[in-house]
Amino acid sequence: MALTSLWQDRHPRSPLEASTPATLSGEHDVVVVGGGLTGLTTAVLLARAGRSVLVVEAGHVGVGTTGRSTAKISLLQGTQFSRLSRRHPDQVLRRYAEANLEAQAWLVRFCADQQVGIQDRPAYTYATTALGERMIRAELKAVRTAGLEAEWLDEVPLPYPTRGAVRLADQKQVDPCELLEALSREAVAHGVRLVEGVRVRRVTGKDPVQVVSEHGTATARTVVVATNMPVLDRGGFFARMSPSRSYGLAFRTAEPHVDGMYLSADSPSRSLRDAPGTDGASLLLVGGNGHKVGAPVSEQQRIEGLREWTAHWFPDAEETHAWSAQDYVPHHGLPFAGPVLPGADEVLVAGGYSKWGMTNGVAAALAVAGQVLGEQRPWADILRPWQRAELRGALDTAKLNGEVALEMAGGWLRPALHPGAGTPPTEGQGTVRLDHAGPPTAVSTVDGTERRVSAVCSHLGGVVRWNDAERSWDCPLHGSRFGPDGEVLEGPATCGLGRR
Ligand SMILES: Cc1cc2nc3c(=O)[nH]c(=O)nc-3n(C[C@H](O)[C@H](O)[C@H](O)COP(=O)(O)OP(=O)(O)OC[C@H]3O[C@@H](n4cnc5c(N)ncnc54)[C@H](O)[C@@H]3O)c2cc1C
Ligand code: FES
Repeated sequence: MALTSLWQDRHPRSPLEASTPATLSGEHDVVVVGGGLTGLTTAVLLARAGRSVLVVEAGHVGVGTTGRSTAKISLLQGTQFSRLSRRHPDQVLRRYAEANLEAQAWLVRFCADQQVGIQDRPAYTYATTALGERMIRAELKAVRTAGLEAEWLDEVPLPYPTRGAVRLADQKQVDPCELLEALSREAVAHGVRLVEGVRVRRVTGKDPVQVVSEHGTATARTVVVATNMPVLDRGGFFARMSPSRSYGLAFRTAEPHVDGMYLSADSPSRSLRDAPGTDGASLLLVGGNGHKVGAPVSEQQRIEGLREWTAHWFPDAEETHAWSAQDYVPHHGLPFAGPVLPGADEVLVAGGYSKWGMTNGVAAALAVAGQVLGEQRPWADILRPWQRAELRGALDTAKLNGEVALEMAGGWLRPALHPGAGTPPTEGQGTVRLDHAGPPTAVSTVDGTERRVSAVCSHLGGVVRWNDAERSWDCPLHGSRFGPDGEVLEGPATCGLGRR
């Protein structure tokens, strides 16, 4: 059973549940794959412009990263601008800021029009160490280079010692599931067909492009793949981004503790914001403790670590929710929004937001919708895949793929050290074993039932690791995740792990 975010708990299921039969068919101007923030915003933009649009969602609206986000709609994004400034000229920083500003303004207008609750808060990136202070001073410089009016603060209104902060006024925060529901309603009101519960297996052909699932095939002139990590192997996006997982906890507190949206520059990262409670009280959201998906760590201990840290600094905090989520970090630091391959304008991809997709996902939607409608934004070039800007991450891409190759070898060797059938794992645990000649087996015990599936990821053959918080099998190569029965939870994989 996956952990449930505060937002998913408040909006347990899309109101559009089962509103359309879960089959793919028909010819459309555009098929959008993925019903998260990027996919639904793209659908709204295209449907408002008169295009016929089908959205295909593997689970239901809100099941993906957007429904588990901290959902700060902020131009101050941790240390993102200084990260970009190490790889790109100043002009790229300014364009990135323009893209995010336009996306933020679009969301603010949309929320006002659709009566989605959105709160005004200052955003802070703060430091707790000397290294962190150097990082945020570099961030202040980069943010100002990008044209944003950020300020330096010596005294940070937090209950623990800090070494200053960068502050950007007038940023926003939202309940992301409330936002997704409003986007779904607006899309459907403009004629979008929204199919939930159908996982796309392949996107193939040209003029028209075919979108293939186990429940039928639909065709379109253009397909937009908005699955966060593109589920297509074409384009090799899985080799150009690192999957990163982190944790979120919500707490009821006797009185509000934070007046803004905070993120530490130092590691392990600490993210703080408030959220209006349903009973008029305020909740405290604490996030952080991120790591690469499938890393040899205990995910449960990462949650415990955040719990202990919160109990120390906010002793009145009473936990209501704990969850985790993942996002993808491209090596050149910029999101992708454009053709899957150079010249292949019939298949567009959008993703890779480095945990800042609330604005970048909307910017990517504005860029791909603009491309379909022939109305390109001046900043859209920096997001196009296969551009010169991407070469600036080439060294990091080579390094990551070296690490992936090592992980692949290690993953296949490790089970050889744990041969034999052995006893079943204890409740909530899983282990990878080599119990007969052939590929390793992933064995888990969940709710008293022992389950055995292939440990070999159906994407490109990585060996999965057990995630003891989400009770899932996570692939350390490119971040695919599977349930104890082997069903796909997150891509790039589109097929499950075989039963043993
Ligand atoms: C812990 C955490 C905190 C974050 N906090 C912030 C924040 O404060 N501010 C911010 O700006 N960003 C934040 N982010 C990042 C942001 O939430 C994401 O970048 C953004 O939500 C991604 O939106 P998306 O629509 O691209 O992806 P998703 O919301 O993941 O949507 C993709 C959809 O595609 C579907 N799908 C996948 N494969 C298939 C398939 N084969 N067929 C059909 N459908 C498929 C999935 O089910 C999913 O619903 C955070 C990320 C994490 C992990
Ligand atoms: S996600 Fe690519 S091999 Fe598993």
